[in-house]
Amino acid sequence: MGCTVAIGTQWGDEGKAKMIDYLTRDADIVVRYQGGANAGHTVVVNDKKFVFHLIPSGILHEGKTCVIGNGVVLDPAELIEEIEVLEGKGYNVKERLIISDAAHFILPYHKTLDSLMEEDSEEKIGTTKRGIGPCYADKCLRVGIRTGDIFDEAHLKKRVIAALKIKNLQFEKIYGLPPVAVEEIMELILDFKTKAGQMVQNSQKFLHDALKHKKKILLEGAQGFALDIDHGTYPFVTSSNPTIGGALIGSGLNAGEIDEVLGITKAYVTRVGEGPFPSEANEEDSERLRVNGNEFGATTGRPRRCGWFDIPLLKKSIQINGLNSLAVTKLDVLTGFDKIKICTGYEVDGKRDDDICLSNLSRVKPIFIEMDGWDENISKYRTFDELPVNTKNYLNFIEEELQIPIKYISVGPSREFTFKK
Ligand code: IMP
Repeated sequence: MGCTVAIGTQWGDEGKAKMIDYLTRDADIVVRYQGGANAGHTVVVNDKKFVFHLIPSGILHEGKTCVIGNGVVLDPAELIEEIEVLEGKGYNVKERLIISDAAHFILPYHKTLDSLMEEDSEEKIGTTKRGIGPCYADKCLRVGIRTGDIFDEAHLKKRVIAALKIKNLQFEKIYGLPPVAVEEIMELILDFKTKAGQMVQNSQKFLHDALKHKKKILLEGAQGFALDIDHGTYPFVTSSNPTIGGALIGSGLNAGEIDEVLGITKAYVTRVGEGPFPSEANEEDSERLRVNGNEFGATTGRPRRCGWFDIPLLKKSIQINGLNSLAVTKLDVLTGFDKIKICTGYEVDGKRDDDICLSNLSRVKPIFIEMDGWDENISKYRTFDELPVNTKNYLNFIEEELQIPIKYISVGPSREFTFKK
């Protein structure tokens, strides 16, 4: 591995953190490249559960450097809390975490706007209300505040005044709310400077220098392919690019530097929030998958909608991301189903159309096949050969349909349940 990108292939929550944690053993540096504290990455080590929203889960490995890339939108209070919790548990975060000086701050007014817009909207997205959309919007409007702005306080203040001019008009004129004070925002950012300023640097340069020194880099995406703002089920998407393009933009690495693109895919599918979901299961099966897989949002606690593996969705994910191989996670959650459904195609207006644009996915009727399930506890196995024949059939079917190798399999929640196929 020189540079590997791990990408969620569905609607997020594919078990990326667990796979990243596993792959970090072979990496020197782990980079988070997009999203913000909307993500909740859960890792279980020695029966201890860690939930990360911003810091790459690779931080749990001593000696590894973690980078919050320029593509991330960063809630300063959230990040400081995450650092303090980890330091309190004995992890030396401050010496091993680099924060890009080009990452944008999510500020309280972004979160307020996220909530207000959701409440007001006729067509709710079901956002995490972490301020993600409003922050990325400010980035595009060029009124965002970047972590690198902390080094020149006069300049920072000008940026805050400019940002608040627009925001306060919105608050007062549209929502009838009191204005946000410049001092309140300055105080928050300067507190970040005191507590985390030493970690802020030119992350793009750091990564290119690292590659020159033959360091191995692992890029960690948040959310998943179908939540991509360009390629996903727009408007029911997040406001960043969890796909391969986002990995390059959000880290500053170039296409020629990427050696491997690994798709992380759950053995079934889940989705949080609103939006089309062709392979969504009936109430009984959905509830069973939710309970077996503990499918509740790590950030919001919301129950996830659950459904069956979706081949056409994965085919699109492979195409857009240029995936080289797959890691199939949470295979054990399917144990005990007499029959396991797989969506093998889409029907639109009575005709087969697997290539439909994801933003039109609500028009799709899924075509399902059923495969025989298995009853045996598969969490005890560590090789493909040991798995029950029906489990192997299931994985082989996916591989054949997708024409892509499954490289890793995970059959339980913590590190030791993952193995190479
Ligand atoms: P936002 O990213 O908070 O703006 O939310 C937009 C959509 O993305 C909503 O449907 C969220 O539920 C979904 N979403 C955001 N982050 C995650 C995640 O980490 N896992 C799964 N869904 C997510």
